[in-house]
Amino acid sequence: MSREQLVEMARREVENLAADRIDLAEDVYRIPTSAYYDPDRWRLEVDRIFKRLPLALGFSCEMPDPGDYRSLEVCGVPVLMARDIDGEVRAFVNMCSHRGAIVVDEGRGNSRGFRCPYHAWSYDLQGNLVSIFDSGNFGDVDKSCYGLTPLPCAERAGLVWVTLNPNSDVDIDLFLAGYDEMLDHLGFASCHVIGRQNLDGPNWKVAYDGYRDLYHIPILHRNSFGPDSAYQPDYYAWGSHVRMVSPTRFTRPADLPEDQWELEDLTPGIWTIFPNISIAGGRGSAAYDGQGASPFMVSQMFPGNSPEESVTIQNFLLPEEPDPDDEERYAEIMKMYFDVVGDEDYYTGFRVQRALKTGAKDHSLFGRNEGGGQMFHKWVQALIDTEDKDLNALLERGVEV
Ligand code: FES
Ligand SMILES: [Fe+2]
Repeated sequence: MSREQLVEMARREVENLAADRIDLAEDVYRIPTSAYYDPDRWRLEVDRIFKRLPLALGFSCEMPDPGDYRSLEVCGVPVLMARDIDGEVRAFVNMCSHRGAIVVDEGRGNSRGFRCPYHAWSYDLQGNLVSIFDSGNFGDVDKSCYGLTPLPCAERAGLVWVTLNPNSDVDIDLFLAGYDEMLDHLGFASCHVIGRQNLDGPNWKVAYDGYRDLYHIPILHRNSFGPDSAYQPDYYAWGSHVRMVSPTRFTRPADLPEDQWELEDLTPGIWTIFPNISIAGGRGSAAYDGQGASPFMVSQMFPGNSPEESVTIQNFLLPEEPDPDDEERYAEIMKMYFDVVGDEDYYTGFRVQRALKTGAKDHSLFGRNEGGGQMFHKWVQALIDTEDKDLNALLERGVEV
């Protein structure tokens, strides 16, 4: 059924290509500029979006075996993801129940369990406290009350989704709205992580606006991607998640009968995951150099310590076994994306946020061609306006975009 959705989108894109048009948003949309720098607003965004919704934090393919784990900090919360002996990925607050030390250093590895570096309390892969060093000093401790704090966690489409609120009752299926079935076609479960790099960026929304925008590509990126790059995309939404794709990516399907359309013909474009992820690259991308396997770049962007900071992790996932002879080529691709995003997108983003803060303009304007950005800001606003008890209802109902 999800393949049928891919085919339907491809049909529409082939029609739009032939008619030299895109499907425009109903109207333009205005965002108050203060929404990009007001500290109270920013705090609400972190609390009501990043600390409430499932976030795609890891990849199944980097934790394929029991005992594989990854630890990272997200919006100030230390998170530990680990695959247990039964093959299930679990997530925890990476904090010791004794006196709060971080149990596992940032990074990846494989372990039979986790030992706190402070006083050696030890936990198994399911987060259970299994031993206390010199336990006699602690009286009659009920170990079952001192495990690692579990976080809601689900593995879908080769991604590991974690909700930072341990008490969350957010329904991940309502949140995903069927998008996981679409992402499954990208094949992340069988990819290989070939590299990862971090970039400092501007306000998280200033940064994310750029990920749902092709309008800037032939202008801001004229020297990197070229002045003739496609810049008019269509937007397809599943709940808060959006695929962005230009009809010009469909010249091959336009020349072929439908029964010869291959998965690669059906999946090009930028696949974004609300609130902070963009998936670019792959063979369907405009940046593909035509040589061998091409990595996906999965950018995970997180708010930093203030409204003016964000951190982006660029993850590079190759759909096939990496070839040692291609290492230089992979490094070049990674450097290209690091430079383009850092020196062009985020360079511009830092200047945008400085200028917005002057207050000289009271709103930013999103055109009818910028539907992806419009949808993003409408969802951000709806989530900020929604109390915890109404969150699943909002996800079920959706936001009018
Ligand atoms: S804080 Fe972890 S064992 Fe003491
Ligand atoms: Fe860009």
